[in-house]
Amino acid sequence: MALYSEKVMDHFRNPRNVGVIEDANAIGEVGNAKCGDIMKIYLKIENDIIEDVKFETFGCASAIASSSMATELIKGKPVSEAMQLTNKAVAEALDGLPPHKIHCSVLAEEAIQKALEDYYNKQGE
Ligand code: FES
Repeated sequence: MALYSEKVMDHFRNPRNVGVIEDANAIGEVGNAKCGDIMKIYLKIENDIIEDVKFETFGCASAIASSSMATELIKGKPVSEAMQLTNKAVAEALDGLPPHKIHCSVLAEEAIQKALEDYYNKQGE
């Protein structure tokens, strides 16, 4: 069996939503101290809906695929729904990750959580 699913390879080779949102109203950045990978998520939220999302990930193939899939999963969704996104859902949407690569999907969950926290902080909630 191949180490990575076709979906992981697809999102690694053709990542969706790569880049920066200049007028983002929420940003979340996280890193993993062990592997040194860094993920940054930009959100453009209007009326509590995630109108746009982009990411910059300096990391492994699984981290890039996880960022890409996570952004696809929250795009167009209400903030309350994006809050519920788990790394498990990201890994499942990618048809699985090898056990030693699960932490890469955790990075995506954390980056989105952090961006949403930033959104709420800016709103004074
Ligand atoms: Fe660190 Fe994948 S090896 S995020």
